[in-house]
Amino acid sequence: MLVAVFSTQPYDREHLERAAAGTGIAWRWFDSRLDADTVALAADATAVNCFVNDDLNAAVLERLRDFGVRLVTLRCAGFNQVDVPAAARLGLPVVRVPEYSPHAVAEHAVGLVLMLDRRLHKAYNRVREGNFSLDGLLGFDLHGRTVGVVGTGRIGGRFAEIMLGFGCRVLAHDPRENAVLASRGVRFVTLAELLAESDIVSLHCPLTPATHHLIDADRIALMKPGAMLVNTSRGGLVDTRAVIAGLKTGHLGHLGLDVYEEEAGLFFDDKSDAIIRDDVFARLLTFPNVVVTAHQAFFTRNALEAIAAQTVRNLVHFERGEPLEAVVTA
Ligand code: NAI
Repeated sequence: MLVAVFSTQPYDREHLERAAAGTGIAWRWFDSRLDADTVALAADATAVNCFVNDDLNAAVLERLRDFGVRLVTLRCAGFNQVDVPAAARLGLPVVRVPEYSPHAVAEHAVGLVLMLDRRLHKAYNRVREGNFSLDGLLGFDLHGRTVGVVGTGRIGGRFAEIMLGFGCRVLAHDPRENAVLASRGVRFVTLAELLAESDIVSLHCPLTPATHHLIDADRIALMKPGAMLVNTSRGGLVDTRAVIAGLKTGHLGHLGLDVYEEEAGLFFDDKSDAIIRDDVFARLLTFPNVVVTAHQAFFTRNALEAIAAQTVRNLVHFERGEPLEAVVTA
């Protein structure tokens, strides 16, 4: 079976090749994103394999189907980049990797919290330049602080448990209450209550039409003055212009982002010699109390191995006509 792999990075190739040894899967590697301009690259493939910033809209899916592609595999958990109802209409199954390492993402979110709180990004540079002053590095104890977790599935649940370990009071908001977390003392509240009471808010819900710009100007206004916002889920959950306004007035005290709503075409590539043309993103980078990582929360050895193993399993099941695991449904 020939699989066209889009948005390929060297580490994807290494892990997928290793996981597929002996299966007969043939890979064709493309570093470009899958979109309307590149879809023809999949013309003779049986399956495609995509990542977070590929664009699987209805027109792209239709062309894949017309080329004879029979399966869409995602090497990620989120599937907001796929028009799932269109894929269903076209009879194209979409499979993903729902649980490769919730620890990887939750731990990265905690890393952003600690970095912002203790100004580690500033301290690192300062000490390297021989500046051992502590002025401006004053942080706060996490112990005793209130942390709000939006979305308590696999990743948010893990994040909540870690924050309980720090001695934080944890509030959560999720349409499906997580009974295990509730039994450990996490209190499920409305989003408005969570925003009003939390010193730190961390987003772990999926991006859907209902959650697009979940954090907008009105919701930022509900947050405690000086609160911290962390987003390791999907960029579209946050209205970036609104958070910039909140940072400028000082109402928002700290911002940690691993995802950005316009990250496609920016993240995952070395742009160090390029001019950044996105003025909104460039403005974000000017704040001393903002830390941005380029969608790296998933990026651990354990996660890459698990992603490759599940992706190969998905392809092998399809080829053998066995029931598919991890099918995405609307
Ligand atoms: P999950 O499906 O286990 O949990 C998502 C939770 O969000 C569910 O409990 C669901 O009920 C809840 N939810 C849905 N709508 C909500 C709303 N309006 N308000 C509050 N909660 C809501 O998903 P998992 O594995 O925990 O992943 C969460 C998200 O993390 C993914 O959708 C993906 O976008 C993102 N992610 C980011 C990565 C990164 O590298 N930065 C890597 C992997 C996932």
